[in-house]
Amino acid sequence: MDLIQIKGGNFLEGEINISGSKNASLPMVIASLLTKDKVIIRNIPNLSDVSTLLELIETLGSEFELKNENNSSYKLIIQTKKIKNNLASYNLVRKMRASFWVLAPLILRYGEAKVSLPGGCAIGIRPINFYLSMLEKMGALITIKDGYVQASVRNNLKPINYKLDFPSVGVTHFFLMMSSLIEGESILRNAAMEPEVISLAKMLNKMGAHITGHGTNKIIVKGCSYLKGLDIISPPDRIEAGTYALALAATGGKLKLNSISIREIETLRYLLENTDVNIKSHKNSIELIKKNRIIQPTDIETKPYPGFPTDLQAQFMALMTYSKGRSRIKETIFENRFMHVQELVRLGAKIELQSDTAIVDGVKKLYGAPLMATDLRASASLIIAALRAEGTSTIRRVYHLDRGFDKIEEKLKSCGAAIERKRDKNE
Ligand code: EPU
Repeated sequence: MDLIQIKGGNFLEGEINISGSKNASLPMVIASLLTKDKVIIRNIPNLSDVSTLLELIETLGSEFELKNENNSSYKLIIQTKKIKNNLASYNLVRKMRASFWVLAPLILRYGEAKVSLPGGCAIGIRPINFYLSMLEKMGALITIKDGYVQASVRNNLKPINYKLDFPSVGVTHFFLMMSSLIEGESILRNAAMEPEVISLAKMLNKMGAHITGHGTNKIIVKGCSYLKGLDIISPPDRIEAGTYALALAATGGKLKLNSISIREIETLRYLLENTDVNIKSHKNSIELIKKNRIIQPTDIETKPYPGFPTDLQAQFMALMTYSKGRSRIKETIFENRFMHVQELVRLGAKIELQSDTAIVDGVKKLYGAPLMATDLRASASLIIAALRAEGTSTIRRVYHLDRGFDKIEEKLKSCGAAIERKRDKNE
């Protein structure tokens, strides 16, 4: 296994190409299974979560080819003429929860599915009750046995008028895929409004679906009987871009983020400007300049889109550990997304947890230490903290990082960070 070593203190200066979005690409790849035609998805990021999903869908009958288009993106050519197998095994679903969404194409094209329950994960319990109640309302028969959800369709599936208790991103993706191929009009209220939902809806519409209202909290889908192939581009990764923007805010310097526009990280704009990051917005790039190292304390609360994204909470907390005052960081999406706190404390951060809120008292300096990555975004927060810390930090279990950040150490190194990936001799 690898570790990442960082000698803190350098400014960041240079350009970073933002990869395709992980959380947009994963549902788009799964949606390709809704048609027997060829689907091309460009700007697929080079991440282990993508490889895990491809491994799974190959077992279901998909054939694919990944072509390197440029250094940071791939073209995926995928075709699923026939679903040959309706089983998504525990071994693959446990590695990456989004795999659970294959339940939609399996039910729609095979008529029955056996998909492993994903289980909890480092950031929360993450139940699947909304998926199951939605499926039941659509007319599927569901049993849970031996750790698997078994779903089958006896008669035709029926359209639904459904209100989510919480605007779940995954359940909204699931609704879009299912209702696109269920004849009649389906309505989802309190739907997630995340950009990744919009990307999936646009893809499905290009495939022949009739979806309106995506990007609002009420989505209406007029189902059709057939979806066709298409050629589409996955959007840039707003969380990757936000992570580099927060790293720049911590270290100071000048960064140009390519292949992304400021609209994608609008929720961060005010927070960055509030801490003296000067932003120049171009059509397809963002320039960020931070001349000093003073960080303003800021309170945030994670919220569904357009609120502050939970996927940037850990990285924002890393920045606040250097602020000149007290910040309150409230996590409202996942009940356990604070695993990074104890690691940041190992660097010398002053953080107290009060149920769903972290009280961060900024300190002048953090000091390098051995650290353990606990989940994907937590790993990124440790990198941000270590980039400014005095001395050397080593971050172990970086496989968490490889799930969602393409070549993070190379991208940061090209901007002047003293960062290396090494074999971990102690593992
Ligand atoms: N929830 C339920 N029941 C359900 C489904 C969800 O109670 O049946 C709850 C969850 O437990 C959670 C809340 O609803 O408390 C929101 O979860 P959501 O379903 O929106 O999350 P998700 O679809 O599983 C996606 C992203 C996450 C991101 C969240 C929130 C992907 C592959 N994953 O997860 O990304 O944090 O939306 O924006 O798109 C990450 O990339 O690091 C990551 C965790």
